[in-house]
Amino acid sequence: MSASAIEQLAINGGTPVRDVKSRPWPQWPIWDERDVQAVNDVIRSGAWTGATQVNAFAQEFAQFHEARFGVCNASCTISLQSALRAAGVGMGDEVIVPPYTFIAVPTVVLLVNAVPVFADIDPDTHTLDPKAAEAAITPRTRAILVVHHAGCPADMDAFPELARKHNLALIEDCATAHTSAWRGRKVGAIGDMGGFSFNASKTMTAGEGGIIVTDNEEYYERCASIVNVGRLVPGAKYEHTLAGTNLRMTEFQAALLRVQLTRMPEQAARRWENGLFLNRELAKIPGIRPMKLDERVTGHSFRNYPFRFDAAQFGRMTRAEFTKALSAEGVPCGGGARPLYRDSLFRPQNTYAGTQMDYSKVYCPVAERAAEEEAVMLRQTQLLGTREDTQDIIDAVAKVQRAASR
Ligand SMILES: Cc1ncc(COP(=O)(O)O)c(C=O)c1O
Repeated sequence: MSASAIEQLAINGGTPVRDVKSRPWPQWPIWDERDVQAVNDVIRSGAWTGATQVNAFAQEFAQFHEARFGVCNASCTISLQSALRAAGVGMGDEVIVPPYTFIAVPTVVLLVNAVPVFADIDPDTHTLDPKAAEAAITPRTRAILVVHHAGCPADMDAFPELARKHNLALIEDCATAHTSAWRGRKVGAIGDMGGFSFNASKTMTAGEGGIIVTDNEEYYERCASIVNVGRLVPGAKYEHTLAGTNLRMTEFQAALLRVQLTRMPEQAARRWENGLFLNRELAKIPGIRPMKLDERVTGHSFRNYPFRFDAAQFGRMTRAEFTKALSAEGVPCGGGARPLYRDSLFRPQNTYAGTQMDYSKVYCPVAERAAEEEAVMLRQTQLLGTREDTQDIIDAVAKVQRAASR
């Protein structure tokens, strides 16, 4: 094949850097006979309800994430909502959240009748900016909900300090942060409570599921009660101290997750190695800026690999054109959407928790730039391959860059 055929962008009829039909990216989820066996064993046991697997998994995961307690439940959304409730966040309280993340982050605040207050993100990590968060604190603020964005830990020196200084609860959204660590400690129970997701798109999955981790026994007991119809832990089956609901994880999910957990360290190590390689190599391409990896970050799940795209150095190519061209080269990717405060959910006519918060006045410039112009995301499975697979990503980005700047 001639060099010019290879250089022509695949989107214009050229040969893609990676032919995904003959060389697909690693498939997800990853499973084998052990997973089948684990679920089969639960089926055969007849113990379809109960908590044998659930309790065992809660302990195993909490231990893995260096927390004293774990409370399994239906999802990360439920985990975060329960954590806010356990921390006493309620009607009219304000909770500081980042605007460039998943919709569950502000909605869990609304679901406990509190008010999400958006503060801007850090331009280098796209995690909540501690200075912006501090500036958003008012006498009504009760909690900060930090998100370890795409698996990158938020500043876990600054946020615990801020929470202490202003007497706020600190909840960690670890939906995508399995194995992520700050200064050698895994995230989740660095703050008061942390919630993880086991949805199919995450780096550890049973299709759906979630867990709250914490070092605080009181929070543990409250969370366990909230997701288990208000029962005491441990306690009589028909004695209840709060209005809980049934948000329990099933035995089937927990059995599967116990097997998934055994694979996670090796998979995370592979993504970490490939992520660092991408950071090094993509930085050499004009117009591409990898996210900053703070030296205090000692673990990053790379559930996604986000990087920053600068249109000014890509001829007249927009980010949408770039992601289309890169996908056509066999490197599927996406860009951000819009900051969450511009979602229809936050239309001015919608008022929550009895407040008149007018979200049309919210403006977080860094989040706007990230969401609308700059951020490009690769998927975790693209970091689960070999060095050669990862090199394809770099070659494809470089090829699009050359074509755009010609
Ligand atoms: C940052 C973040 N928080 C929360 C969630 C919600 O997780 P779940 O689907 O388990 O409720 C997600 C899911 O994508 C997420 O990315």
